[in-house]
Amino acid sequence: MYRKQLSIFISAIVLLIFLSGNIGCNKTVQQEKKDYVEKSLVRAGEQLSLMLETNNDTTKLPRSVDENGNTIYVPSRNWVSGFYPGCLWLMYEYSKDNKWKEEAIKWTSALSKEQYNTNTHDVGFMIYCSYGQGYRLEGIKEYETVIINAARSLATRYNDTVGCTKSWSWGEKDQGWSFPVIIDNMMNMELLFKASELSGDETYKNIAIKHAKTTIKNHFRDDYSSYHVVDYNPETGEVNRKRTFQGNSDESAWARGQAWGLYGFTFCYRETADPEFLQMAENIADYIIHQPSTPEDLIPVWDYEMFGKEGEPRDASAAAIIASALIELSTHSERTKADEYFHYAEKILESLSTDTYLAEKGTNNNFILKHCTGHKPHNSEIDVPLIYGDYYFLEALLRLKNLKNL
Ligand code: GLY
Repeated sequence: MYRKQLSIFISAIVLLIFLSGNIGCNKTVQQEKKDYVEKSLVRAGEQLSLMLETNNDTTKLPRSVDENGNTIYVPSRNWVSGFYPGCLWLMYEYSKDNKWKEEAIKWTSALSKEQYNTNTHDVGFMIYCSYGQGYRLEGIKEYETVIINAARSLATRYNDTVGCTKSWSWGEKDQGWSFPVIIDNMMNMELLFKASELSGDETYKNIAIKHAKTTIKNHFRDDYSSYHVVDYNPETGEVNRKRTFQGNSDESAWARGQAWGLYGFTFCYRETADPEFLQMAENIADYIIHQPSTPEDLIPVWDYEMFGKEGEPRDASAAAIIASALIELSTHSERTKADEYFHYAEKILESLSTDTYLAEKGTNNNFILKHCTGHKPHNSEIDVPLIYGDYYFLEALLRLKNLKNL
């Protein structure tokens, strides 16, 4: 009897030691996660501060770095103009320091006239990543009107026969396009969803849903990789041609294009709860995750077709967009898939937080991430920082931090 009690006592002690060891171990994993997220966010704050010190002219929005090492600044009509104010808003979200809010408001207001821009689908990127972030964080009343006006501008580009908003207003002569729609355009639908919520006018949301459904029909191959450009006949709605502009070939999978699609269908599901959108987001996620042509650190080469070819640059911006989208998708998917998506996103963020991709303080022209690729076939912005890489990196870090209470 005594021996039996002794053995139960010893087993209990062993179990306690095992459990306490395990709890300690989990704490370490959680701490490590917190450490790299914190390190990257602090570095981002340092870089953004230096960027502000270098230039306070709000008509010059930072975009990238040119071949001579000079910072490329662009005016508000450039498609990337919303990302820098957006970075400032995200830094405010992280730090809660009003200095960032003041800068964010100042730089956001520099984009005001773009709410009336009907010349490009990119009005969605411009206004939603700047005014949209400010509205999400601070609920600034005047931003509501800007968001609705911008959605009205974007809606002028909708053709009901095609079932899409037109992406570019150029390329008719030199590219032979009639009504080009690029996969990137899915991103601009978030502005339309928000405008319907704010105005009560369902027109914007219905356009976004139709655009997304047409994109499911025409933009994807059987393996759920996507074409970059689908050109439509605006009179009949028929597809004229499927091709690429920024990818390596018409049948290749341009890395950032896959990222835009994943992100777009993920928020379409959030906004509609339509299972077709969840299925689509998961199909794209599975395509990306199970790509044999992804390097070990999960930062893709700029086009999946180019993996393994010597000297082909990575695109850290695509990785940052994928990470941000997968963290959100992990909150919508069932358990097994959710875990897979979340861990993949974490691995990307860990890689981006290493010295290989995260700039040292005061280097990289004060951008945050290195090794992004803008437009390889045009020999433009290759292996450089890109402001949208920084924006989605910050968004992904904050999504991770908020979700895990780090
Ligand atoms: N939307 C343009 C790009 O991704 O380069």
